[in-house]
Amino acid sequence: MKEWTEKELYRILNNPDEISEMHEKVVNSEYRQSYHIQPITGLLNDPNGFIFRNGIWHLFYQWCPWGAVHGMKHWYHVVSEDLVNWKNMGLAIRPDTEYDNKGVFSGSAIEISDAVYLFYTGNHIDDDGTRIPYTCAAEFKNDGQISKLSEPIFAPSSDFTDNQRDPKIIYNEKFDKYYLIIGARSFDEKGVCLVYQSESLLADWKFAGRLKVTGYEDFGGMWECPSIERICGRDVLFFCPQYLKLEGRGNVTNHNIYIIGEMNWENLTFTPIGDFNVFDFGFDFYAAQCAANIKNDDKAFLMAWMGLPASVYPTDVDEWSGCLSLPRELTIHKDRLIQKPIEQLESLRSKEISADEIMDGHEKFAGAIEMSVDVAGGDFEIKLFTDLSGKGGLSIKYNDKFKKITADKSGLKRRFNTDFGEVREHFIENTLLHLGIFIDTSSVEIFVNGGEAVFTSRVFPTDDEVSFTITPNGTVKLWRLKEISDNTFVV
Ligand code: FRU
Repeated sequence: MKEWTEKELYRILNNPDEISEMHEKVVNSEYRQSYHIQPITGLLNDPNGFIFRNGIWHLFYQWCPWGAVHGMKHWYHVVSEDLVNWKNMGLAIRPDTEYDNKGVFSGSAIEISDAVYLFYTGNHIDDDGTRIPYTCAAEFKNDGQISKLSEPIFAPSSDFTDNQRDPKIIYNEKFDKYYLIIGARSFDEKGVCLVYQSESLLADWKFAGRLKVTGYEDFGGMWECPSIERICGRDVLFFCPQYLKLEGRGNVTNHNIYIIGEMNWENLTFTPIGDFNVFDFGFDFYAAQCAANIKNDDKAFLMAWMGLPASVYPTDVDEWSGCLSLPRELTIHKDRLIQKPIEQLESLRSKEISADEIMDGHEKFAGAIEMSVDVAGGDFEIKLFTDLSGKGGLSIKYNDKFKKITADKSGLKRRFNTDFGEVREHFIENTLLHLGIFIDTSSVEIFVNGGEAVFTSRVFPTDDEVSFTITPNGTVKLWRLKEISDNTFVV
C-alpha cells in the first residue's frame, strides 16, 4: 500500500491535469460499476446536500481526488432527472479557506425562497494539530455556481470534543425556525446530537442543547451524519453510531441506524417508539441521507455510501474506492421503514436471460444484472458468484423456523475487510417470499420481501466466479441491465 505524506494527503485540487492520467487508469479498472455513482478518481464516501429542485435531483458526495484514501475532502456534484441516469457536474466545493483547510466535510441542503443553501463542516486543523470543526454554509445559485459565506455560521461548542460535524439543516414550520443538528462526541466519550436554532437561515444561530434521545444516553462513542426526517407522518432519527458492536454485525463498530419516534422541538427530546433498527444488514452501508425538498412526506428518497469508515477495498490499488447505493424509496409500515428500490430502475432492464443459460456457462453471471427471486416457503439458500460447479460464492441463507437470514461472504475468493467479520445475521418479521437483487460489477443490493430488510455489500468476483446456485424452492427471473454510469472526466 502507498505511504502518504501529510502534504500529499492534504492538497487542494486546482487543475484537472493533476488527475487526468489517474482517471485513464481508474476507468479501466476491472471493478468499475456500470449503473452506480462512482468517483472519476480517488475516494468517494458520504452523500451530501441531496436535494430535489425544479425537476432535478442534485447530489454531492465526499471526494478525495488523490487516491483511495481519506485525505483532503472536496464536494463533487452529480445530477439526475430520474434518480437513475446521473451526470457528472464536477467539483462543487473546494477546501480553499482557512476554515476548511483540511477538508470540506459532510452536510446537507435546503431550499429557501428560490435559493438553495448548502451546510457543511469546515474541517480546520491548526499548525499545532488542534482541530476546529466549523459549521459553514454556501449558496448554491441558480446558474450552478456555489459561493461560500465569508465566515462560518458558528464555531464548535467548547462543551464537547472536537468531533462535531455533519450539519443537517431542518426548517420547522410550526415554530417558523431553523434547526441544525450536528453529530458529536462528548468528553465522557458518548455519541450525541447537538441542536442549534435560529429564526433566520444564515445568522443568529444559538446552541440550543444536546438532543435528548430517551434510552440512548450511552449508545456508541460518536454519532456521525445525524438527521431527523418526517416520513409518512412520523419522525425518524437517523445516525451512524461508532465504537459500538451490535448483535449479528460481526466485529464491525460503525453502523447506520434509525429510530422511529416523536420529536418534540420545544424541549429537544426525541422519544423512540420501539427499538432502533439497523438500516441495512449487508457489509457496506453508511452515512445514508434523504433528499430534501420533496414537499410531501408520503415517502422519502435515500442514498448512502456503499462503504464503511476504516475499510479497504481491492480497487484501492487502482486508485479509486467507494460508490453510492441505489436510491431507495422509504415508507413506514408497522413501525418499520420499508425500503424499496425506486421503480424507475426497471428502465435499466435490457434483456431477459435464463438461469439455465448461466448455469450451463453460456451466459456469465457478471456485470449488471437484476434478479427477481420467488421463494415457495421453507428453508432457502442462494449463492451468488459461485464457480461453474456451484462452489464458493456469497451465501444468503434463510432459516424458516427462526426467520433468520444469514449473509456469509467467506466463500468469495477475493476477501477484504475480514477483520470486521464475514457473516451478518438478521431476523425478519415475515416468512421469506421474495428477494429483489441488484448486481453490479462490484456490488450486490438485496431487497427482502419488497423492502422489509436490505443487505448491501461490495463484492469483487474473480474471472471464474461467474455463476450462482439456488435451492429448488426458489424460482428466478433475470435481466441484464444497461450500463449507464457516467465516466466522463468532468472536474
Ligand atoms: C462519515 C464521515 C463524516 C465526515 C466525513 C468526512 O463517513 O466521517 O462524519 O463529515 O465522513 O469525509
